[in-house]
Amino acid sequence: MSKKLKVAVIGVGGIAKTHMPGWAASPDAEVVAGADVSANALQEWGKTNGVTRLFADPYEAIHDPEIDVIDICVPNMFHAPLAIAALDAGKHVLCEKPLAPTPSDIRNMIAARNRSGKMLMTAQHFRFAGVSRAMKREIDLGVLGDIYHARSWMLRRNLMIPTVGFTKKSLSGGGPCIDSGVHVLDLTLWLMGNPKPVAVTGTAKNMLSQKPGQFSVLRPGAMPPPDDFDVEDFAAAFVRFENGATLVLEVSWFLHHDTMGEDMQIWLYGTEGGAHWPKAEILNTNYQTQQLYNRTLKLTKDTMEPHALECVEFARAIAEGCPSPVPAEASLQVISILDGIYRSQREGREVAI
Ligand SMILES: NC(=O)c1ccc[n+]([C@@H]2O[C@H](COP(=O)([O-])OP(=O)(O)OC[C@H]3O[C@@H](n4cnc5c(N)ncnc54)[C@H](O)[C@@H]3O)[C@@H](O)[C@H]2O)c1
Repeated sequence: MSKKLKVAVIGVGGIAKTHMPGWAASPDAEVVAGADVSANALQEWGKTNGVTRLFADPYEAIHDPEIDVIDICVPNMFHAPLAIAALDAGKHVLCEKPLAPTPSDIRNMIAARNRSGKMLMTAQHFRFAGVSRAMKREIDLGVLGDIYHARSWMLRRNLMIPTVGFTKKSLSGGGPCIDSGVHVLDLTLWLMGNPKPVAVTGTAKNMLSQKPGQFSVLRPGAMPPPDDFDVEDFAAAFVRFENGATLVLEVSWFLHHDTMGEDMQIWLYGTEGGAHWPKAEILNTNYQTQQLYNRTLKLTKDTMEPHALECVEFARAIAEGCPSPVPAEASLQVISILDGIYRSQREGREVAI
């Protein structure tokens, strides 16, 4: 490719910092601009990264003719309007997770992508970890047979980012379902081959966040007041898929679970074998010798953080004319399930997806 894609980062806070090494390493793209509603954050980020094209208004970056790619790193509720405007302005879009908090937002984003013919990718960085890629390659060889059940969870004990971008529904769209559920569910569905979900029974409740003295180990003493914490702190679900497979999902920010940080695991069960993430373990049975055996996949050391690699792979896909490495249709499946959990909680029954 003769010319590098010119990237503008919108929202230069916490997660944007993890994208910068990827853009710096990419042979296909480079960051030339940033936008943020916080002037201080923007100035500091510009100085740190040597970027001088700085916009207080993200829509100015979107309409800048020099820009090819918009990297959206703002709170969840702004993802859809910014992505749609960017796609309509002819830009490729890499968007932080969740792609958007509701299925209808994502459908609108897919329509904008189809109108523009540009790339839209969700930043699901767990897919870019070496262990995930090795397991996906192995599973795609058929070593599990038909996967008919999965269990996955991302359980945190007093671990969450205690800012309104995460805890206020009008900004985040939801609690750990939307924040953590998108990670573990996207990875689980991808490993399963993205079967179509058809029904979900779920619960989403806030049981512990309002306890006097409650705290997050990330920032003790910084819990938002109750009015600014109106999302669930725990959720669980049972999901049915069109192919007959089922899934049990659990997520939390607060839970009396035996972990000092985060416990994220995925178990897959198939007709020929099982698998565990992140142990990269494949479990099979030799029925002739009546032996049970497990093997651990050989992994090469990751040379780049998954957050960075996702940027490299996004730009490579554009440069080489490949499909989006994380298509919006996969994110629509994920958010349809999570939205189903909230609906099931409200209606007290299984709901169709
Ligand atoms: N992939 C991951 O592991 C991961 C981890 C954390 C956050 N995230 C996602 O990244 C996004 C941002 O989270 P964060 O932790 O970086 O938040 P943050 O608060 O650290 O940074 C967000 C930045 O966006 C700016 N901003 C807010 N509204 C804006 C707007 N309308 N236009 C322009 N700038 C705006 C803020 O001033 C801030 O600088 C969220 O969608 C979150 O879900 C992903």
